[in-house]
Formats: sequence, structure tokens, C-alpha cells
Amino acid sequence: MLLCSASVSLHFDLLMCVLLCTQEELLVGAPRVLVTGATGLLGRAVCREFHSAGWTVIGTGYRRARPRLLRCDLTDEDAVRGLLHEYKPDVIVHCAAERRPDVMERHTEAAVNLNVHATSTLAKEAATCGALFLYISTDYVFDGRNPPYGEDDSPNPLNVYGRSKLEGERETLRHCPGAVVLRVPVLFGEVESVTESVVTSLYLKVQEASEESCTLDHVLQRFPTDARDVAAVCRKLSERARQDPSIRGIFHFSGKEQMTKYEMAVAIAQAFNLPSSHLIPLTEQPAASALRPINSQLNCSRLELLNLSVEPRPFTSAIIDCLWPFTPDKRWRQTVFH
Ligand SMILES: NC(=O)c1ccc[n+]([C@@H]2O[C@H](COP(=O)([O-])OP(=O)(O)OC[C@H]3O[C@@H](n4cnc5c(N)ncnc54)[C@H](OP(=O)(O)O)[C@@H]3O)[C@@H](O)[C@H]2O)c1
Ligand SMILES: *[C@@H]1O[C@H](CO)[C@@H](O)[C@H](O)[C@H]1NC(C)=O
Ligand SMILES: *[C@@H]1O[C@H](CO)[C@@H](O)[C@H](O)[C@H]1NC(C)=O
Repeated sequence: MLLCSASVSLHFDLLMCVLLCTQEELLVGAPRVLVTGATGLLGRAVCREFHSAGWTVIGTGYRRARPRLLRCDLTDEDAVRGLLHEYKPDVIVHCAAERRPDVMERHTEAAVNLNVHATSTLAKEAATCGALFLYISTDYVFDGRNPPYGEDDSPNPLNVYGRSKLEGERETLRHCPGAVVLRVPVLFGEVESVTESVVTSLYLKVQEASEESCTLDHVLQRFPTDARDVAAVCRKLSERARQDPSIRGIFHFSGKEQMTKYEMAVAIAQAFNLPSSHLIPLTEQPAASALRPINSQLNCSRLELLNLSVEPRPFTSAIIDCLWPFTPDKRWRQTVFH
């Protein structure tokens, strides 16, 4: 298979050179957003969204930060305080987290430090500076036994990851009562490699057509959601919440199409005109190390009623968009759509 991410990283470079602005630039004009986890899947999309809407964007990362972004270990309280005092953001979109449930089970302490303690520090500092704090959370706060879930339904996380994100929500709202919590389900988007999201990594299974068969979970119901749609919701929420203090607390946003991993893989195969007969649905519960909810569908009516939602892109066109840089013939897209 030919893997090529050149076009993706070029696009990324162009964007990132504008993210590191001097302090002087920060003193005037556009509202400022600080995005944590700006090197990650969602954080990159959030940076792009706010940037194209005219915001001044300050992105922070950790291991992948340099040379284009600010490097800040969010588990270091002094570093977080220094960062906020230096850049004085109007809004903080907190995307950094450990989000891999199986990693969480094995490295609990470091992950809890990031998902809970760093969130707590940021929320306290946001309250002190008067910045709007937007915390990204997950549908994994629910056990999945009684969907769909509204914002007020009782959480009951099944794994360490879900528990840590729920703790993060509670720390957020405890220290920063004006904060916004946005829960989203499994994400995909403009990935740096196909394996960066569980959704795009199904493309590898689809390409294993020469192998005898490939089993895929057909039990857990998912609502794959495009990070670009989440980013647009983050911006709309931020803009409205700055005007209207009643916009606070918990919100749900989700893609609308319900699919198991098996169904996502079949949809990807069809989108690229590839065979899917080698894909076998597995109807027994997967023996993963971390328990996962069967169906944690989110009821998103609160955002919709406030006109703060976006119409999610259809899965097929969104996934084509995200995977085409990894197809052997990258001209494919032009030949099909133009
Ligand atoms: N991806 C999903 O399917 C999904 C689903 C539901 C909810 N969410 C939530 O959405 C948010 C964004 O997820 P994502 O998929 O974009 O995550 P991601 O791609 O795994 O990115 C994680 C980010 O956290 C940063 N980070 C890690 N350790 C750090 C530290 N000690 N200090 C500062 N930053 C640190 C990473 O920076 P470096 O890489 O530079 O070290 C990276 O930017 C998370 O809150 C997650 O819980 C994600
Ligand atoms: C979603 O929540 C709204 C508001 O609470 C409610 O009116 C609606 O019936 C819910 N939808 C579903 C499908 O449960
Ligand atoms: C909803 O938001 C869109 C822009 O996001 C705006 O054009 C429209 O006027 C809004 N509608 C209402 C009813 O507020």
C-alpha cells in the first residue's frame, strides 16, 4: 500500500505558520482562542476553524509541538499558569487528553494526571482570567444501556477513560461555573496517518481483500463524527457563549449515522469501489481489555434548539475526503468529482 501524507502536512504547515503570533499582535483586534491538544486530531480541526473565522489562534501541543506550536506540559501547573498569563485568551478549547481506553487501563496515573488534574488547573485559571472554558468530553461517560442520552441523564462510565473524562467534566464545572462541556462520540477527520483514528484505520482492513477474511465488530453501535463538524460547533458555542452567559453547562453533538465497525468498513469499501466480501461481521462482544458501551447515542436537541449545531456531513463523502490522500492514486478524487 502506498501511504502518502505530503498534501496533508503541507496544508498543515501553511496554517501553523500563522499560529505563532507575537505578543504584540495579541494585544489588538481579533478575539483570542487557546487550543490545547492542537497537534491532535480534533485540536488541528479546531485551530483551522477558528483561524478561518478570523480568530487569533494560539495552539499548544506536547510531544509533537515543536517547531510550529507552543510546547506546554499541561500536567505542570506553573507552566499552565504562565501560558495563560502570557497569552490572555478570551476562550480556551481544551482538546488535550489521553483518549485511548486500552492505554488508559495500562497507564492510569499519567493519563488521570492529564485528563483530570490538568483539566482542573486549566478550569481554575480560566475562572481567574475570565476566559470562557470549553472542555471536550465523550459519550463514554454513559454505560450505553439506555440510549439516547440527554445532557441531564446520569453518567455511568464503564472504563477508566470514561471515568477520567467524567471527573474532568466535574472539575471543569466545579472550578468554572460558566464553562461549557461538549460531549462527542468517536471522531475521524483529516488524519496524519490512517491509523490516527479507529474509523480511518478501517481502510487498512478494507484493503486486505487478498487475505482470506477479516472479522470486524458488529455489536457496538457507533456514530462516527467528523472532527471538522465538532470544530464548527466549538466555534459557534464560543461565539454565542461570549455574548450570552446562559450558554453554559453540558451539550451533546454527534454524527447522525448509526454504524458498527463492520458497517463503517463496508461503507468505506463502497465509497472507494473496493470489494467488501472479505469483511465478516462479528456478532459476539469483542474481548477488548477495556469495556465499552454498546450504544451511547447522544440526544443533541439542546444544541439544535439553540441554533448552535451544524448539519453533520454525510459519512460517505466525509470519509472519502479524509482518506483520499492515502489512496494509491490521489488523482482519484479529481477524476470522480470534477
Ligand atoms: N478521538 C476520538 O474518537 C474521541 C472521541 C470522543 C471524545 N474525544 C475527546 O476529544 C478530545 C480530542 O481528542 P483527539 O482525538 O484529538 O486526541 P489526540 O489526537 O489523541 O490528541 C491528544 C492531544 O493531547 C496532547 N497531550 C498529550 N499529553 C499532553 C500533556 N502532558 N500536555 C499537553 N498536551 C498533551 C497531545 O499532544 P502531543 O501529541 O503533541 O504530545 C495531543 O495534541 C479529547 O478530549 C478526547 O477525550 C475524542
Ligand atoms: C431528546 O431530548 C429532547 C429534549 O429533552 C426530547 O424532547 C426528545 O424527545 C429527545 N429525543 C429522543 C429521541 O429521545
Ligand atoms: C441560526 O444560525 C445561522 C448561522 O449559524 C444564522 O444564519 C441564522 O439566522 C440563525 N437562525 C436563528 C433562528 O437564529
